Amino acid sequence: MTTVYLNGQYLPAEHAQISVMDRGFLFGDGVYEVIPVFGGRCFRLDEHLDRLDYSLRETAIAQPLTRAQWLEIFEHLIAAYGGGDQAIYIQITRGIAATREFKFPEQTVPTVFAMSRVLAPAPEEAPAPIAVITVDDIRWQRCDIKSTSLLAGVLMTQQALHAGAREAILLRDGVVLEGASSNVFAVTDGVLYTAAKDHRILAGITRDLIVELVQQKGLEFREQALPTAQLSSASEVWISSSTREMVAVTQLDGKAVGSGEIGPVYRQVWQWYREYRKSFSR
Ligand code: PDD
Repeated sequence: MTTVYLNGQYLPAEHAQISVMDRGFLFGDGVYEVIPVFGGRCFRLDEHLDRLDYSLRETAIAQPLTRAQWLEIFEHLIAAYGGGDQAIYIQITRGIAATREFKFPEQTVPTVFAMSRVLAPAPEEAPAPIAVITVDDIRWQRCDIKSTSLLAGVLMTQQALHAGAREAILLRDGVVLEGASSNVFAVTDGVLYTAAKDHRILAGITRDLIVELVQQKGLEFREQALPTAQLSSASEVWISSSTREMVAVTQLDGKAVGSGEIGPVYRQVWQWYREYRKSFSR
């Protein structure tokens, strides 16, 4: 039986109910976080909670809980799902209003929801590479907010799956931004690129960790979006996210990326990432 947290209570998922007047349901008026748990502990917790604060601030939804209260919920869920490696999902909506109107309701209490799911154990070897397609980014202009209004991401992901790929890489303004639910790294002429953080991408926590690691180790790196025209000649491409961690891309729009095999830069950075993650969960 799956345990979830809803507005102060722990209960089986099938008994957790929200009102049809909840603005999260009617407008997608809410924000969320996905926090990985490795070895029974939240990974990069402060960074995830800082980003949650940012999303809440930018949408003018009050932070309903203190960090200590969040931690208590996370610990409860981690235990309920048996420790180990998990992905905690939290969602906060603006709450319930009496009528469906676009304007903010005058007085409303945010709806707070959290659940977890068990992740497959971390691979000892680099995970299997994937195929991706490129698509025009059809999302809005505030992709820096981790909003639950995810219809564009859902459609672009489905388009990728339909084409036999595992992720859609999003292009806008003549540059490569990120994936439908991941950040994107590319290597060209021996230099690693990932888009700089602005309103067009989600500031991925995994992305930031990778940037930290490559800067520490002195890899040649530019925090700059790769021009679309250079993507097809990149020698390596990979995606990152809290749940997928780092996955190499060996096929792009049906053509091989570089040699068509997992590349050396990915392998090196994956090793650094794995060492960091191992030292954390030890
Ligand atoms: N998505 N960009 C987008 C649009 C995302 O949705 C995500 C993550 C990322 C990677 O961010 P992070 O490294 O913090 O997970 C980038 C999560 C996993 C999701 O929606 O399920």
